Amino acid sequence: MAIVFQEKTKVFHLYNEKISYVMTVLPEGSIGNLYYGRRLNDNEYLLNLYQSRRRDMSACSFDDDIFTLDDMKQEYPQYGHGDLRNPAYKIEQDNGSTICEFVYDHHEIIQGKPPLENLPGCYVEKIAEAETLIITLKDSLIEMEMKLFYTIYRDYPIITRHCEFYTAGKEVVLERALSMCLDLPDSNYQMITFTGAWARERAVTRRDLQIGVQSIYSLRGNGSSAQMNPFFMLARKNTTEQAGEAIGFSFVYSGNFLGQAEVDNYHVTRVLMGIHPECFSWHLAQNDHFVTPEVILTYSDEGFNGLSIPLHKLLRTRLARGYWRDRERPVLINNWEATYFDFDEEKIINLAAKAKSIGIELFVLDDGWFGERNSDKSSLGDWYVNTSKLPGGITGLAEKIEGLGMKFGIWIEPESINADSDLYRSHSQWVLQVPGRRMSPSRNQFILDFSNDEVVDYLAERIDSLLATAKISYVKWDMNRSLSEAFSLAASADKQQMVMHKYILNLYRLYEYLTSRHPEVLFESCSSGGARFDCGMLYYAPQTWASDDTDAWQRCQIQYGTSYGYPISMIGSHVSASPNHQLGRNTPLTTRANVAYFGTFGYEMDITECTEEELDEMKKQIEFMKENRRLIQQGDFYRLVSPFETNNNAWMVVNENKSKAIAGFYQCLNTINQGYYYLKLQGLDPDQLYQVDDKRYYGDVLMNVGICVDERKINGDFYSKIYLIEAV
Ligand code: DGJ
Repeated sequence: MAIVFQEKTKVFHLYNEKISYVMTVLPEGSIGNLYYGRRLNDNEYLLNLYQSRRRDMSACSFDDDIFTLDDMKQEYPQYGHGDLRNPAYKIEQDNGSTICEFVYDHHEIIQGKPPLENLPGCYVEKIAEAETLIITLKDSLIEMEMKLFYTIYRDYPIITRHCEFYTAGKEVVLERALSMCLDLPDSNYQMITFTGAWARERAVTRRDLQIGVQSIYSLRGNGSSAQMNPFFMLARKNTTEQAGEAIGFSFVYSGNFLGQAEVDNYHVTRVLMGIHPECFSWHLAQNDHFVTPEVILTYSDEGFNGLSIPLHKLLRTRLARGYWRDRERPVLINNWEATYFDFDEEKIINLAAKAKSIGIELFVLDDGWFGERNSDKSSLGDWYVNTSKLPGGITGLAEKIEGLGMKFGIWIEPESINADSDLYRSHSQWVLQVPGRRMSPSRNQFILDFSNDEVVDYLAERIDSLLATAKISYVKWDMNRSLSEAFSLAASADKQQMVMHKYILNLYRLYEYLTSRHPEVLFESCSSGGARFDCGMLYYAPQTWASDDTDAWQRCQIQYGTSYGYPISMIGSHVSASPNHQLGRNTPLTTRANVAYFGTFGYEMDITECTEEELDEMKKQIEFMKENRRLIQQGDFYRLVSPFETNNNAWMVVNENKSKAIAGFYQCLNTINQGYYYLKLQGLDPDQLYQVDDKRYYGDVLMNVGICVDERKINGDFYSKIYLIEAV
């Protein structure tokens, strides 16, 4: 790995064994892109990648009538000097102008990767793992500096990027401050996005790029959303799971975002990603600064699996942090779908005792344990125990659960408040609201003003003391509505457009405080299921509840879609009741577990009502997961057959030395009188002999011919099978 600056040609070349990223200082002083893709040799001829062409009717930077920014592939463009495409930033100055002129001043190349101030980001454990280039540009008229950060990892086809702005003597307002721009020389790409809604998150959407703008975004304020995930890819038309070129863009942020690909009329593709400029403007005082969140760029010329495998590894080991980062996740039971709000201590203890008897390790008490919370109409904000439900309080219950030999966890939703709560009655000014205007409830609740430090400090103290007084080993941090009337009573008129980003900064501050005060507590983030499934959350909480839809077949799609951008260890997945509570669908217990294995694994159903036969089967499922969870959660994950394109789903994990793999095959509806079906595996050693069921095959046969999946003919709808593949 290296970052090279060629003094003579003013070319920057960032490369490792897999990728190259080449830039140069453009004639007017900004930074231009020359190349991003498969590794190139480093030499002085890279500057020949620079091209400039006359464009009719374009504003030129010089008298030469040739050099126009509209034609340049740029690293961090603005609007106003001739480039008429969408810009990366916009700075309003005291005379009302938004025209800037940042020119290259100097650069530094440093070992390792500096952390982003108050924001989540990838990191290194040893400085040899990465190198960082910081390019400083200056606009002397407004006395501002802009710093473009690029970190290249030694062992991954990955570059991280963000930008920082620094003022000196003058105040300005940032009206737009995206995290990165990447101009690609052609538009023969498809954009692959992960879209959906509540309970059907991250469905794969694939479309050809067209001239114009195609984008994904969230304007929900406090969540990256179930509607459009802040991860997308550009891929060639022929890219498959195994082969072809693809670039991934992951935004390390949990609030409003914009990810877009703009194709201009010369087929240059401009990719922009960052905080959505709508509802955002940031005042910078003299000697002030602003840091944009990070974007992770992943390149693959080995298909989508070639993109997601290194991305998973980086996110799992160099974005996620703390005690649980490398640990196998406990098998849990969550009482939500078992009881909803209708529980008392006896019911909980019975459920926990049964769970213990089949090998479950952690009991999670979901919504309903606090204040007067017997429905979703009241008590959010009152993080005190409801003693009519739990006479011994959380402390007493936690002790009883620990006494059974299990760990204990709770649900919280700290950002929300019900009007029917003591907190609202005493501190209604802590709620986001516009004076004189109506407030829009959602699930009967409002949102606390997280842009106000005082509110967050209060919650920090409250939740910290809850975690300190009871034996709590796990926290499910939920958030069940998006922002409306996002106005802070604590902020002045000119700072209202800062509220949404400040909210997210304070959300991260609260997470940082609680996770560092309670380092061994396992945090799972959640937002009405998977509406906050993003890299920002992963930095604080190593797992996320993937969806409120627990139906096995729907989960095949949700988990398959999620796996393009996120590691399996992050995907919260539970076995639930049949018929399923969301769809009313019946699926075999085996299939429900076979799907849930490919995630963190747990149960979310009233197992006190299960038959002995079912409990026996669950016991075996739990034993299987305990035996294999290290491989599943930390192995290389391959998508094999897409449930979005076929009646089947298949995926597999392989361990590091390719001596063991587990594949899951799933069929949606049965069809009559089928032909043979061969499931081709991936990632094995072609020269290794493996045992699968009662047969032996070499890796090359398993990958090129496949396993003949046969039993499905007689086993009806939602049949599934797990294959253990072991080297002999
Ligand atoms: C939404 C979550 O996604 C569910 O799992 C559950 O925790 C409910 N909230 C509780 O209100």
